[in-house]
Amino acid sequence: MDDAPETDEPNAAPHAPPSRLPGSVRALLRIPLFYKILIANAVLVLVGTLFGTLVTARFVRDEPGASLLGFTGLLALIGIAVTLLVNAVILRVALRPLDDLERTAARVQRGELDRRAPVSPVADRELERLRRTFNAMLDTAAAYRTRLREVAARALSAAEEERKRIARELHDETAQMLAALLIRIRVVRNSRDPAQMEPLLDGMREDVSRALEGIRRFARGLRPPALDELGLVPAIEGHARSLEEIAGLKVELRADDVAGDLPPEAELATYRIVQEALSNVVRHARATRATVTLAHERGRLVVTVEDDGRGFDPDNVMSTEGGGLGLFGMKERAGYIGGRVEVASTPGTGTRVRAEIPLHDETPE
Ligand SMILES: Nc1ncnc2c1ncn2[C@@H]1O[C@H](COP(=O)(O)OP(=O)(O)O)[C@@H](O)[C@H]1O
Ligand SMILES: [Mg+2]
Repeated sequence: MDDAPETDEPNAAPHAPPSRLPGSVRALLRIPLFYKILIANAVLVLVGTLFGTLVTARFVRDEPGASLLGFTGLLALIGIAVTLLVNAVILRVALRPLDDLERTAARVQRGELDRRAPVSPVADRELERLRRTFNAMLDTAAAYRTRLREVAARALSAAEEERKRIARELHDETAQMLAALLIRIRVVRNSRDPAQMEPLLDGMREDVSRALEGIRRFARGLRPPALDELGLVPAIEGHARSLEEIAGLKVELRADDVAGDLPPEAELATYRIVQEALSNVVRHARATRATVTLAHERGRLVVTVEDDGRGFDPDNVMSTEGGGLGLFGMKERAGYIGGRVEVASTPGTGTRVRAEIPLHDETPE
């Protein structure tokens, strides 16, 4: 019983369970529970009345002196017992698909994540619909888990890439420059001619400032610039200006004063969400301008990033495999700190990313 075969077919006709029962029996089992009970009770009342009347008439004729009350009392008891029994059997059989759901839920909970509730030959339309909804819910949860795993894997490999990049740059650039500097120092040390020394020292100064610039560049790449030192809005402002320089995108920033309003991790999340949204504008939108706003709204910080680009269909992106990890990551990031992100876009009309960030720690348990 526990190992009912899984014959769930998403595209199978809703009322074609794999069963060797004759068609008429299957049709009967498919009748909605409400009508099953109604019909069965109507039949019981009809049969009971006819049978009771006939038997009582015969009893009165055959045993004129006997107690009629005792006899009809007995009949009524038998009638009640049969009615209860029939109703119990009908309910038991008709509700069996609910047991299947419960069993499936228990198995999924135990870690058999691919389990789905099987089609039942006795399920009526409502229970069949419930089964489908239940399975669809499990499918959605499974898809969500897969996406989460993809994001985690991507984050790990991005971190790994970043480490490799830093190792490469440290090795190829900074270390090379310092090595060159060592040689110049040695040359200066051995040099007796002051006229020769001057260009050498100039070269050394250049090496040092280039090495310094390289190290600053790493530092900027590793930590959001100025987020801690200057605060959220100036950090976003700085990022916007650098996008204007690098990518030629005009970014307008309108921000309430939010200094000190957010916990540090919410600031970082907000910064990363804006960063990803703007990076999408640069990479995908073909927009001429973008607008970033930060405003207080009913105890939350509402952040929007809008562009006038070509837009896209967010539902379509989120449902394609491997697609939309940037958008998904944004939503996850907001979710971790008790906020949320909505993406509104239609092809041809630009895109609007709206994030709501709680001002105080509302991290979900
Ligand atoms: N502002 C935007 N304008 C147009 N298309 C966008 C925009 N943002 C996202 N998209 C579309 O949504 C897709 C998914 O975006 P995202 O999840 O950030 O992944 P990625 O940027 O790595 O492609 C993009 O490939 C692009 O087609
Ligand atoms: Mg992206």
